[in-house]
Amino acid sequence: MQTLNVGLIGTGNIAPAYIQGCAPFDVIKITACADILPDRAREFAAENGLTAYSVDDLLACDDIDIVVNLTIPAAHAEVSLKIIAAGKHAYSEKALAVTRADGARIIKAAKESGVRMGCAPDTFLGGGLQTARKAIDDGLIGAPIAATAFFMAHGPESWHPNPGIFYQKGAGPLFDMGPYYLTALVHLMGPVARVSASARMTFAERIATSEALMGARLPVEVNTHIAGTLEFASGAIATVITSFDVWGHHLPWIEIHGVDGSLSLPDPNVFDGIVRALKGGRRDWAEVPLAHSIEIGRGSGVADMAYAIQSGRPHRASGDLAFHVLDIMCALEESAAQGRRIALRSTVAQPMALPAGLADGELDE
Ligand SMILES: NC(=O)c1ccc[n+]([C@@H]2O[C@H](COP(=O)([O-])OP(=O)(O)OC[C@H]3O[C@@H](n4cnc5c(N)ncnc54)[C@H](O)[C@@H]3O)[C@@H](O)[C@H]2O)c1
Repeated sequence: MQTLNVGLIGTGNIAPAYIQGCAPFDVIKITACADILPDRAREFAAENGLTAYSVDDLLACDDIDIVVNLTIPAAHAEVSLKIIAAGKHAYSEKALAVTRADGARIIKAAKESGVRMGCAPDTFLGGGLQTARKAIDDGLIGAPIAATAFFMAHGPESWHPNPGIFYQKGAGPLFDMGPYYLTALVHLMGPVARVSASARMTFAERIATSEALMGARLPVEVNTHIAGTLEFASGAIATVITSFDVWGHHLPWIEIHGVDGSLSLPDPNVFDGIVRALKGGRRDWAEVPLAHSIEIGRGSGVADMAYAIQSGRPHRASGDLAFHVLDIMCALEESAAQGRRIALRSTVAQPMALPAGLADGELDE
């Protein structure tokens, strides 16, 4: 496998995680970066031994194969479409886009241009969620019949330096954190066919208590508590809550319940964690031994795409998967607004499980 050169657009908070997460993979090398704020790109380049460019100049570089879009969600569609138009393979942070129409435009453009479109989250490639996938595929709990997934907190205004963006259109708990939970569920249980939901916007504004913005009033434009039901194509049913309105709770991140037992999963926002299983008729939960490496981080989806580009196989953290997740999120919002169940327009194949026993820094060809 050749090493493919990678450029980053957007050198904000999450960019260092990509430097660290991509480093173990010989199949990719981050060489360049750009940001709408040129000083920020220059500083990041100097810290990490990269070359800083303007966005247009980075896209014109002949020696860059993949461009990773780490801009804010509202800019994802514009930037991903530019990457594709430049003939580069594109990989975006979540969410793929803020609207279905923009998401569909990105997928269509990539297919027409013959380039790959990948999208975070890639946490489902981590040892925790891959161990869960193997357990389900091996029949440990029988066919899944139900799942629960809960992300509940009281919003990021107590710790985030710029929490206002989390309450603007295209964000909220569903679009910001939902992709981790929904991608994990589709990875484990296949595509969703229909959804229903109720939702509320509890407070008209939030007050920042983080050091940077103490006392700032943050207008709220989005639902901050969304309770939904997903009906999978397989017939399984998941209950999902995402909330910025909850001070505390005792609910698990994700559980999958099958005809022969239950599986308890780690936080889908991280790559490691413990999987536990309960066999039908027993009272005790047992730890499922990790079947995959946890020495994998953000950017493993980019490395997987680099292997896939060269071998011709599908890549796992794909634009199609991210578009299906976007469709689920949009449909949950529509269901809540319209008071009815919504049939999804998209579907997607379950991404291939990772083979067990890969060495750290290696993925399958
Ligand atoms: N921060 C986190 O912990 C975290 C974790 C996981 C995923 N993410 C995702 O990563 C993405 C970026 O988040 P972040 O926290 O790094 O945001 P950020 O605001 O810290 O960084 C975004 C960067 O993109 C630049 N930018 C914005 N629009 C641009 C454009 N049109 N062209 C070029 N550059 C542009 C900004 O100047 C900024 O430097 C988001 O999609 C977010 O959902 C963030």
